[in-house]
Amino acid sequence: MIMIMTTIGREFAMNKAKSFIFLMIVILLCKSMVFVDVTYSRDKNENSSNNNPVIIKLPHPGYDSDTSIEKALLRRRSVRDYKDKPLKLDEVSQLLWAAQGITDRRGFRTSPSAGALYPLEVYIVAGNVTNLHNGIYKYNPRKNELERVEKGDRRDELCKAALGQPYVIKAALVVVFSAVYERTKARYGERGIRYVYMEAGHAAQNVYLQAEALGLGVVATGAFYDDAVKKVMKMPDSESPLYIIPVGKK
Ligand SMILES: Cc1cc2nc3c(=O)[nH]c(=O)nc-3n(C[C@H](O)[C@H](O)[C@H](O)COP(=O)(O)O)c2cc1C
Repeated sequence: MIMIMTTIGREFAMNKAKSFIFLMIVILLCKSMVFVDVTYSRDKNENSSNNNPVIIKLPHPGYDSDTSIEKALLRRRSVRDYKDKPLKLDEVSQLLWAAQGITDRRGFRTSPSAGALYPLEVYIVAGNVTNLHNGIYKYNPRKNELERVEKGDRRDELCKAALGQPYVIKAALVVVFSAVYERTKARYGERGIRYVYMEAGHAAQNVYLQAEALGLGVVATGAFYDDAVKKVMKMPDSESPLYIIPVGKK
């Protein structure tokens, strides 16, 4: 009886040891599977983040300054010579807000727009902005964000597209307006084209006046090759370039 009990006990102990080893193997296998899965999903995330748009949240624009509208109108001048100093992201945000910022719960903006259809799109070509990698960015007025379109300093290419006008390279930043004519033409027909041109003028003047209030210099630039600017800026087919505005410290 004692022998039988001993044999059963040994069998049980051996089975226990086998079960323990089996359990350990299962745990190790599970761990390695989890590890493989985590690595895979991390790689997946890295890949997908490359495809994800690069978004830069802009500082909130200010609604007050020491420069009255009259002073800005009086002092505004086209400036083609800039200091080699960076612009701040605050200044970039302020200029873009002046151009096309949303100022109303209904979505109305700083610039008037025929039928409130807002055919203008605004880009920046950043070459010397603190805390912003050089590149081309598109302004999203609804979210007060920039979305990167292209990496790297593109001022040289834009300068060539603008007949080699040198202040395009000297500027710390270039604001570029494009238009989606169809937005306005859909309601106003061919007359809509005229409205879009008028709107670009309104928006550009806002940039002039805001720049004056910030102590910055700008020059409205209309002489450029449309196709070349469109290519540099990676604009979609629906957009046409309208205005280039180099910006820099006076
Ligand atoms: C539609 C338009 C296009 C312009 N294009 C250019 C241009 O390509 N190059 C340039 O140096 N200045 C350009 N200018 C700026 C004018 O030369 C400038 O406004 C004019 O000399 C008056 O000077 P002010 O802006 O200092 O008052 C343009 C201005 C406007 C309104």
